[in-house]
Amino acid sequence: MSARELAKDQPASFAFNAEYLERAKKVIAKYPAGRQASAVIPLLDFAQRQEGWVTRPAIEAIAKMLDMAAIRVLEVATFYTMFNLAPVGKTHIQVCTSLSCAVRGAGDVLKTCKDKLGIDAGDVTADKAFSLIEVECSGACVNAPVVQIGDDYYEDVDPASMAKLIDAFKRGETPKYGSMIGRDGSAPAGEPITLTEDPTKPIPKQDLAAAKAAFEKAKAEAAAKAAAPKA
Ligand code: FES
Repeated sequence: MSARELAKDQPASFAFNAEYLERAKKVIAKYPAGRQASAVIPLLDFAQRQEGWVTRPAIEAIAKMLDMAAIRVLEVATFYTMFNLAPVGKTHIQVCTSLSCAVRGAGDVLKTCKDKLGIDAGDVTADKAFSLIEVECSGACVNAPVVQIGDDYYEDVDPASMAKLIDAFKRGETPKYGSMIGRDGSAPAGEPITLTEDPTKPIPKQDLAAAKAAFEKAKAEAAAKAAAPKA
């Protein structure tokens, strides 16, 4: 993943609009006096939702609101890939390429994005319709490979389904999020291989009797072995 730094071109100023200012005040009020810095992530998120990305003036304004050094807010913004440090496309695609996704084919998914959009990771298309980045673990490894588009997770993605997703967004649609192979949440892919019997079904009596007999036999054999004279 490339180094994360703020875009060179920055707006002159930033101020929360009425809606986000209200929301920011509510979040800050959740923390005791002197602990307002705990609100830094939600406030960065609000700034991004309002502006589309996290600008330097937004970082400075948030630092002031939370009584923090601006560098500390910048550290948080640059650490998390959820924060865009430069303007992104209308459809922002984040491909997870960490271990679980990598072994399940994330490399091919990323290549599909690059080929179809004609851009590299970290770039925005000329018409500003799409942007693409590579991210570390998206926290949904069991459904790898995972691609986040906007606020939604698309899971069990492969090159074919990724291509279809991009085509749908190009048409202005918002495809249904979740598993691309119809998995039920994080249930195992394919047929279940454990717990295949109905757990509510009572255990047949003869099974209990057989188990008890096997246990008694093993117990008797162990006792006989222990009592046998040592050779
Ligand atoms: S490794 Fe991709 S979601 Fe965890």
